[in-house]
Amino acid sequence: MLYLRNLIYHPTASPTAILKAINLELAPQQMGLIVGPSGSGKSTLLEILAGLAHKTAGQICWRDQELTPEALQRLGGLVFQFPERHFCGHTVLEELRLGHPELNSEKIYQALEAVGLSYLSLQAGPHTLSGGQQRRLALAVQLIRQPYLLLLDEPTAGLDWSMRRQLVNLLAKLKQDWSLLVVSHDAEDLAAIADRCWTLSQGELQIADPASFASGATSPQPAV
Ligand SMILES: Nc1ncnc2c1ncn2[C@@H]1O[C@H](COP(=O)(O)OP(=O)(O)O)[C@@H](O)[C@H]1O
Ligand SMILES: [Mg+2]
Repeated sequence: MLYLRNLIYHPTASPTAILKAINLELAPQQMGLIVGPSGSGKSTLLEILAGLAHKTAGQICWRDQELTPEALQRLGGLVFQFPERHFCGHTVLEELRLGHPELNSEKIYQALEAVGLSYLSLQAGPHTLSGGQQRRLALAVQLIRQPYLLLLDEPTAGLDWSMRRQLVNLLAKLKQDWSLLVVSHDAEDLAAIADRCWTLSQGELQIADPASFASGATSPQPAV
């Protein structure tokens, strides 16, 4: 169970806090979805939860334990927006083994299987894969580390309709084994499989009903 309590991020370079007293709970085997417009603080929140940026105040806890950035780096697996732009292996095998030369072929097969890519040649070049396959490979790169929490930044951005649907189906399957926290500017598709939803607006998080994003309501409704 992930708990955020009054999480604040206010770097000195910014006149106002970028994340303002965020409170959030996410249970295992749940998918949480945070929807907010560009610049609302979504990527910043994921970077903090992945231990890549340091909070200014508040608590990040897993069960009853408060987590340091180092613990967050072990616990979380962050898939960046457009992860395929960061591929640096020459082959699928190299991409999966980066930083983990000890991984045996069974672990590699399991990770590819989990994302529906077990049919791929390990010698294929990551850049020769389709957009949907590349997103799956980026997920496998994180799954192989066995994180407790998968953090996904705009996972459907730039994919066509059919690839988006396949990716949403894959995330629905992955949440059976992992906790997922997904951020997106576009709730369409993803809201259907989310267990918890929030909107993020100028660093303020508010609980939202997943159903409110259904039937074409693609952006958070303004508060009245
Ligand atoms: N270390 C920092 N110093 C100053 N501003 C920052 C810092 N990190 C993020 N920001 C600002 O915070 C805002 C939110 O950015 P971001 O998290 O990328 O939003 P989103 O992912 O929702 O588009 C942006 O205006 C960005 O410039
Ligand atoms: Mg972003």
